[in-house]
Amino acid sequence: MATAAHSAAKTTRDFLPLKGTDHVEFYVGNARQAAHFYRTAFGMSLVAYAGPETGKRDRASYVLKQGKVRFVFTTSLRPGSNIAEHVAKHGDGVRVIALEVEDARHAWIETTARGARSVSSPSESADESGRVITASIAAYGDTIHTFVERGHYNGPFLPGFRSEPEDKLARPTGLKHVDHMVGNVGWHAMDEWVEFYANVMGFQLYQHFDDKDISTEYSALMSKVMSNGNGYVKFPINEPAEGRRKSQIEEYLEFYQGPGVQHIALATDDILFTVAQMQAQGVDFLTVPHSYYTELAGRVGPIDEPIEELERLGILVDRDDEGYMLQIFTRPVEDRPTLFYEIIQRKGSRSFGKGNFKALFEAIEREQALRGNL
Ligand code: FE2
Repeated sequence: MATAAHSAAKTTRDFLPLKGTDHVEFYVGNARQAAHFYRTAFGMSLVAYAGPETGKRDRASYVLKQGKVRFVFTTSLRPGSNIAEHVAKHGDGVRVIALEVEDARHAWIETTARGARSVSSPSESADESGRVITASIAAYGDTIHTFVERGHYNGPFLPGFRSEPEDKLARPTGLKHVDHMVGNVGWHAMDEWVEFYANVMGFQLYQHFDDKDISTEYSALMSKVMSNGNGYVKFPINEPAEGRRKSQIEEYLEFYQGPGVQHIALATDDILFTVAQMQAQGVDFLTVPHSYYTELAGRVGPIDEPIEELERLGILVDRDDEGYMLQIFTRPVEDRPTLFYEIIQRKGSRSFGKGNFKALFEAIEREQALRGNL
């Protein structure tokens, strides 16, 4: 059963107030080329850069932005570094989910006191644009959370990054902000990470889905959505469940070589425009059968968007008692079947598209079968 828990009363002070997702940093094999893809296909703008030209001898990092979505693509310039090892093991993937806070020292002290493993203790950096304090703790797999305190900084990203001129290559697609970021964890590990987000970071259970909600003929998974106090940051956590064949979560864990970020959901105010633009710019999306759309009006009732348009673009719709939401999923954006994206537009609904799980997972399994991994 899906359980909505978002009315849960808050009884304690939020010891980890978050202002939102500050940025997501990816470790990749070739940051220059990855950045090109996200500029031309996703429509992000290059806003800052750090590398040998700015005094960083071991790496190059490209900072891309669209709306409030900020991605950093970092590559190692030499073998043997933790960046190079991360890429060798996982392929291109998310290393850092950075969260903006008022007080990074406080965030680090509160979370480490509750059992978080410190990855880096609070440190201050500064340049002519001001100063920033960052601190990091470990999350699932090799993923980390970095707390970023940037209230006294007005540079393009962080000290040490140079600002880039207006990006002529970027082709904007209307992406606004990160809606949620999903982690895949191993067998029976979901509750351990749910407890981590509850106990260490003060998050609350927002919704949960069991294997009856999320199963097809072949496979199943379970998911719990954790949300911070103000609801700006939501982390669903998935684990595999027993099925007749290998689940999409197991495929991910095999190719990512462990737990990690499965998908990033990016919000738009105009999903018809965003998806049409991204498709025209070369982003591959999953498709669902025609029958999904013949049943759609009966399932979700009246909606603003023409159903033929939705079908042409492959956009899915779900409704709950608060409204409806539109969503679509890309294919994995690397050769390993690991990280993919969701594009989402919320029209009242705060849910995650439970009514689409079956159609969606069958679409994912058709792709898994093509890869010989089902
Ligand atoms: Fe999602």
